[in-house]
Amino acid sequence: MQLNTNFAKLQTSYLFRDVAQKTAAFRVENPFADIISLGIGDVTRPLPPAVIAALRSAADDMSDARTFQGYPPAFGYDFLLEAIREKDFHSRGVELDADEIFVNDGAKSDTANIGDLFGTDNIVAVCDPVYPVYVDANVMFGRGGELIGNHWTHFVYLTGTPENGFLPNPPTEHADIVCLCFPNNPTGASIDRTGLARFVGWANEHNSIILYDAAYEAYITDDKPHSIYEIPGAKTCAIEFRSFSKTAGFTGVRCGYTVVPKALVRGGQSLNAMWARRQSTKFNGVSYVTQKAATAVYSPEGAAQCRETIAYYLNNARVIFDGLTSAGLACWGAKNSPYVWFRAPSGMTSWELFDTMLRQAQVVGTPGSGFGPAGEGFFRLTAFNTAEKTIEAITRLKSLF
Ligand code: MLT
Repeated sequence: MQLNTNFAKLQTSYLFRDVAQKTAAFRVENPFADIISLGIGDVTRPLPPAVIAALRSAADDMSDARTFQGYPPAFGYDFLLEAIREKDFHSRGVELDADEIFVNDGAKSDTANIGDLFGTDNIVAVCDPVYPVYVDANVMFGRGGELIGNHWTHFVYLTGTPENGFLPNPPTEHADIVCLCFPNNPTGASIDRTGLARFVGWANEHNSIILYDAAYEAYITDDKPHSIYEIPGAKTCAIEFRSFSKTAGFTGVRCGYTVVPKALVRGGQSLNAMWARRQSTKFNGVSYVTQKAATAVYSPEGAAQCRETIAYYLNNARVIFDGLTSAGLACWGAKNSPYVWFRAPSGMTSWELFDTMLRQAQVVGTPGSGFGPAGEGFFRLTAFNTAEKTIEAITRLKSLF
């Protein structure tokens, strides 16, 4: 009997579990503490009314034999696929076929699962700092090599710094796969067309593949690209992940989708066909009720209600950014993103700051070092709490700093 020994290489538990466990331990010691979480990016606003109406109506459909639905189509109902094609892509000048879109239970699963398509020996490039799923999942697949210090030997790190605005350039060394996330989690950096075109040009030239996580595209307020396919040439080198979690409050409902263009071919193999084969074997689709709810996000009322909620969170992000900036901290993000990234004061490490903020201000955030070696000395706060709690948290932090 042999286990997957790569799991033993992952030394700590998943970042957000560490944060939750430390917070829970503090709560046990201090049962009356008024803890405010600006840690994990979990939404607090209720689902838009148009989504609630769609959920209710779909529940009614399920209660009547004439409209009851069993297994959903493996890759998504036509009504949702059409809405996605039209509203997320055609409206931005991107034409996709319905069979290039695969509805899923949220972006996180597929950003990890996509690794099924690639050989273990591929070299993976990750931005640093980065959403930890890309790193941890590739380590589980055996693509990490060994952890020496806080670097995995087989990964190529694309380091984000204040100097490059947390927008690294394409790799200068060989990489088969590049994981990108824009607007970025955790730094909040957003990439413009020129910067993204550089990655697309590089990937096509080197026969590499970009795994593009666009889970936060709805937060873009300027003219940055929402999809990598807005960049000419991206269909031959990129897979894109989208999520309804932060766009429409679906963190608890679970729905997203992955785009695998038919033009994406390597070694004579269609990645679209491979992904279809993978999904039909390992995934049984997303419930009718959930897909009806997701479709309501694209109705005129649903879209307006989502925009209102996003504006609410962006306002929180601005409150955090302005508050910390006025306390003398160097901050990034907030403009096209629900995240604010800042440098820990007084040379503190990320986890030292976590402990200080929890103990002295009862505010929970996410230590930057949990997002990779280049995140050490930085910290992330999310805008997903209520406006009142966000203001209260920032008032406490301003007096702490
Ligand atoms: C985060 O806080 O980075 C996100 O909520 C995590 C996720 O989307 O899985």
